[in-house]
Amino acid sequence: TLVYLNGEFLPYDQASLSIDDRGTLFSDGVYEVLEYFAGRPFAMQQHVDRLKYSLAGICIDPPSVVDELPAISDELIRRNDMPDARVYWQVTRGPAPRNHLPPSDPTPTVLVTTTPTQPLSSNPPARQWKAITHEDLRWKRCCYKTLMLLPNTLAKQQAKRDGCQEAILHQGVAVTEGGSTNVFVVRDGELWTHPANEAILRGITRDLVIDYARAMDLTVHETAVTLDELRQADEVFVTGTTTHVTAITHIDGHPIQLGEVGPVTASLHDAYEQQLM
Ligand code: PDD
Repeated sequence: TLVYLNGEFLPYDQASLSIDDRGTLFSDGVYEVLEYFAGRPFAMQQHVDRLKYSLAGICIDPPSVVDELPAISDELIRRNDMPDARVYWQVTRGPAPRNHLPPSDPTPTVLVTTTPTQPLSSNPPARQWKAITHEDLRWKRCCYKTLMLLPNTLAKQQAKRDGCQEAILHQGVAVTEGGSTNVFVVRDGELWTHPANEAILRGITRDLVIDYARAMDLTVHETAVTLDELRQADEVFVTGTTTHVTAITHIDGHPIQLGEVGPVTASLHDAYEQQLM
């Protein structure tokens, strides 16, 4: 399998990073994850735009190669013969002797990798996950997709220990998002999700699902729900590039209503899968 690293396509085993890369030393970098289906990328431009937004957010001048990431990704998908794949983009501030203060003109490290996935099937049922609730221990700029994922990975490990697949994060009683997803609640036929502010990553899947919901004449409130409202919801689901629309049937061991996929979740799931075909 080939990867792309700093201008070269290299066999996976021959790609290497400096041990002084600031991505490793300080989590000083940003990333994106996008999917290819049957050789075609989904929501490519949105991922390029968000990568630039994240780079600007952490004061890295976007290297010009950022605009070539779509072409580089297409080439990797083709040369790796992986028409159905997850593509990972990572840009770090680059290598520099360890010092909190970066050099004035570092050279960013740009990495692209691919991982094969299952081809799409027509009319797949919505996946069902169980979730725990977990305090949101992250920094105050979660709108940037940085490599600083320790609070997320620790929360997801706790979820796994509790027999669950996702951790729903909350600041005080306000639900923010999932460890690697955005969270939606359905109440009385209306949708609620956290506003796209600094406290959450503005998911590309989230924004698409909001569009599909509005196209179905559902009212969408971009207002945070409380933990009580989450637990008493009619339906809860999470969204993400790799998660698509996934139902949350249980939270902290208690079922959401009957502990099944609800009708609003099912229709939004179907709408999303349709777009991917
Ligand atoms: N995660 N919130 C967080 C904290 C995320 O990490 C992600 C995505 C999302 C959903 O964003 P999008 O719909 O644009 O994928 C929300 C990716 C998939 C990951 O880290 O692997």
